[in-house]
Amino acid sequence: MTLKGKVSLITGSTSGIGLATAHVLAEQGINLVLHGLASDAEGNKLAQQFQQNYGIETLFDNTDLKDETALIAFMDNAIEQMGAIDILVNNAGIQHTESIDTFPASKWNDIIAINLSAAFHTMQKSIPKMREQGWGRIVNIASVHGLVASANKSAYCAAKHGIVGLTKVAALECAEHGITVNAICPGWVDTPLINNQINAMAGNDKLTVKQAKYKLITAKQALPEMTDPLQVGELVLFLCSNTARTITGSAIPIDGAWTAQ
Ligand SMILES: NC(=O)c1ccc[n+]([C@@H]2O[C@H](COP(=O)([O-])OP(=O)(O)OC[C@H]3O[C@@H](n4cnc5c(N)ncnc54)[C@H](O)[C@@H]3O)[C@@H](O)[C@H]2O)c1
Repeated sequence: MTLKGKVSLITGSTSGIGLATAHVLAEQGINLVLHGLASDAEGNKLAQQFQQNYGIETLFDNTDLKDETALIAFMDNAIEQMGAIDILVNNAGIQHTESIDTFPASKWNDIIAINLSAAFHTMQKSIPKMREQGWGRIVNIASVHGLVASANKSAYCAAKHGIVGLTKVAALECAEHGITVNAICPGWVDTPLINNQINAMAGNDKLTVKQAKYKLITAKQALPEMTDPLQVGELVLFLCSNTARTITGSAIPIDGAWTAQ
């Protein structure tokens, strides 16, 4: 089975894990709907680079996932332009760390909207065509925080536990239609998302950025190395393969033994 010519929509693919996943899928000749909070000019340039480098079709959209109406319009437009979304990767996410006592309600709402509710809407729009075609792959980039908790991450943990639950329900509903639905649960991945946490630790503990990075990793992971975003992309690709066709409803850690403890 070849994945060449299939269409993948990856939310939050202008940075980090989403961008790395886009490169991994593009290498297979998979057409891409790229998405993220970049300007039209930046996003279109990125889409053009993918077209030129990989000889694939691309589309770029910078819909803010907090805007439900705009998100639904984005999905309708992407499906109309590309025919169908065969491989949906719900990846976009944000973080805010603060204790529940003072956690701003606006941050709670944003994290739930971007990290959880957006995936419900993209799935609701993508599944009917996948079902018609009898094939589809949905990969939700959750987190170890979909499996275990950390202090000061109430909204993030709630959203990530939620997306693991959503993944399992969708897997059951899609199981007889050739569609698999899985969640990937990374530990620390080397992307801009965790810069604030590293910088805060460096400031509070009077450490260099390198020392703070090491301290942050080893506070949670037995394996003292961050995952490379490309490794997550390769795992997404594996889940799209025929070999993985019976893996569904799973929440797969890639976490340096964080959740083994
Ligand atoms: N980096 C880690 O250590 C780590 C660990 C576990 C899980 N994750 C998860 O992986 C996913 C990707 O994270 P990353 O580390 O690559 O982050 P990143 O900050 O590098 O990229 C986030 C992407 O989401 C997009 N985005 C953010 N807010 C948005 C909004 N309101 N509307 C539309 N797009 C928006 C950004 O434009 C960007 O493309 C997230 O869901 C994150 O929770 C990351």
